[in-house]
Amino acid sequence: MTTLAILTAAGSGTRLGRDVPKAFVEVAGTPMVVHAARRLAASGVVDAIVVTAPHRLVAAMSDVVGGDTQITVPVHVVAGGATRQESVAAGLAQADDGADVVLVHDAARPFASADLVRRVVAAVRAGNGAVVPGLPVVDTVKAVSAAPSATRTSGTVVEPVTSTPDRSVLRAVQTPQGFDRALLDRAHAAGAARDPDAHATDDAGLVEALGEQVVVVLGEEAALKITTERDLYLAGLYAEAPL
Ligand code: C5P
Repeated sequence: MTTLAILTAAGSGTRLGRDVPKAFVEVAGTPMVVHAARRLAASGVVDAIVVTAPHRLVAAMSDVVGGDTQITVPVHVVAGGATRQESVAAGLAQADDGADVVLVHDAARPFASADLVRRVVAAVRAGNGAVVPGLPVVDTVKAVSAAPSATRTSGTVVEPVTSTPDRSVLRAVQTPQGFDRALLDRAHAAGAARDPDAHATDDAGLVEALGEQVVVVLGEEAALKITTERDLYLAGLYAEAPL
């Protein structure tokens, strides 16, 4: 019984406005992808990591993650795809036959703790085929009609509200997401047929599309996703916390 983690780091992260892809951007002097891999390794429940890198940066990524002494499990770097879903599929294709649990984690969430990793893996090992960390939603959330119906009023875009989901049943989900290997393989095989514009933004979505159960475990604020400069600043708060 082994657990493989696929660490997605093949995105461009253009919203951060840096001249290197997001996973290479440093927080407290260390690239995000390294922070994420250290915590996966420190969990003690991950046996190997496959990192997806931008095509032209596979060698650079190997240098960055291969040279870090705190990443104490084997790391293999593969070229990612054009979408996150394709990148995960490329990582999955490299998965060892012996891996029966697969975690999918985003380098854009570099401070997801070793504790969270253990919580997700434990829930999969307890018999849940698909496990996602999630936090209650603090804002009231509105659904709006799709963009084409948005109109401008005095130069401001207005979007008609179609509904207000009950906030108490909403969770904002994070990574790492954990899966029974066979179920994730099946979900990606089915998802590969989708139009790239309809590719899933998380792996649990592909499992749901199969009609299979996904469960939520409690996530954590440290697992925040870094998208903007503000997120980068906030993430710095977690850089000194124990792995
Ligand atoms: O762009 P976004 O922040 O949503 O990406 C989430 C994660 O997916 C990031 O860690 C990014 O590197 C990864 N990704 C990828 N391959 C892509 C696009 C995104 O591995 N083609």
